[in-house]
Amino acid sequence: MRSYKAKAVTPIRLPDREGRTEALDAAGHNVFNLDSDAVYVDLLTDSGTGTMSDEQWAALMRGDEAYAGSSSFDRLQSAVADVMGFEHVIPTHQGRGAENVVYGSLLEEGDVVLNNTHFDTTRAHVANQGAEAVDCPVEGAWDRTVEGEFLGNFDVEKGRAIADEVGAENVPVVVTTITNNSAAGQPVSLANIRETAELAEELDAWFVVDACRFAENAHFVKEREAGQGDRDLAAIAREQLSYADAITMSGKKDAIVNIGGFAAMRDEELFEHAKQRAILYEGFPTYGGLAGRDIEAMAVGLREAVEPPYVAERVEQVATLGELLTEAEIPIVTPTGGHAVYVDAGELLDHIPTEQFPGQRLVCELYREGAVRGVELGSFAFPGADRPDYVRLAVPRRTYWREHLEHVAETAAAVRERREEYVGLEIVEEPPMKELRHFSARLESV
Ligand code: F0G
Repeated sequence: MRSYKAKAVTPIRLPDREGRTEALDAAGHNVFNLDSDAVYVDLLTDSGTGTMSDEQWAALMRGDEAYAGSSSFDRLQSAVADVMGFEHVIPTHQGRGAENVVYGSLLEEGDVVLNNTHFDTTRAHVANQGAEAVDCPVEGAWDRTVEGEFLGNFDVEKGRAIADEVGAENVPVVVTTITNNSAAGQPVSLANIRETAELAEELDAWFVVDACRFAENAHFVKEREAGQGDRDLAAIAREQLSYADAITMSGKKDAIVNIGGFAAMRDEELFEHAKQRAILYEGFPTYGGLAGRDIEAMAVGLREAVEPPYVAERVEQVATLGELLTEAEIPIVTPTGGHAVYVDAGELLDHIPTEQFPGQRLVCELYREGAVRGVELGSFAFPGADRPDYVRLAVPRRTYWREHLEHVAETAAAVRERREEYVGLEIVEEPPMKELRHFSARLESV
């Protein structure tokens, strides 16, 4: 069932095979270098790529563009209070702006931050403060053969052991990321959020929730966690965040906007400190690097995100893509998470060694076969990290129909058919910062 219909559409086209091969060569085998109009189904990210509702478009016109005291800010504040339970809000240009404001206020050189798994930008902001980011995923989070209901969980015992080792006084912040993007978008249980909050309290640390996909996480809690099935989705969404001292939010995910984010917190002093930092990096705290209209659309989207039919259809669509790929005998992480399907390219192209980037080869061939764009999250994107060679196919919110997903599965089936023909890739040009190489490096076949 679909609880919405389209009112505005964007034409897309499938370039012919020759055009796709040319585009891929011109892009140096890096799909970040492709023009978007050469892409037919774009599953690069679910961030800022969703479709706004007519209410959100209408809200754009109400945007109050005042430099200070904008009434759009008041509406964001009231949406964050109602949906997420926080009174103190600082808008930011996107999620990483919120991370800068919060972690820049809480961390110092030599600190250690524990997180179920740091998303790349979170890790970078922790490092930017001279602090160390330590991941505490549960056993099996990286093993696609392990099935579990809450594989995104924080391993509280591991967190405690690390704190014992480095000394609790050096761990000022404990974070949990819901859903756990870096662990295949797997959800985190309410019980686990509570236990992680208790760990933070034990350590006398701030407990921060990275709430980017909080609505999708709430949906999984309702579906899977004992005793949660009869509860209101909105109540679960709020309870998840009720244990946090602060949250960072990318509105580009579960506030269903193309740009925007915010930080929110309970403590007055932290709020004052973070506001000063926001003035420096984002803008005056009632606009935070956004136009009033963007804030207005984010306030509406935040409320829509916890409407049960929307989230159920969203998560179901990701599951459908997973089922179609499984039918096509493509190895994926199951159960699928909230926003994306993760394909095990290391297994699908097991004749390509990890140093020759099997994931990037898969990304290239998905483009060559069907102009489908995914993203590599393995040995190419994370040099030196001990990660499986996964390719993420992230589904934008309210944007594609089943036919698009069928095209993706047919494309993947065609790639599988030809897999013996594929060779590995080598980097021929890369930027100075290795951590950022996947955005701009150029590659060639070995
Ligand atoms: N935290 C998580 C868990 C994220 O997934 C992202 C972004 C951010 C923070 C940063 O938010 O992009 O608004 O600055 N994830 C995108 C992705 C980029 O493709 O997964 P941002």
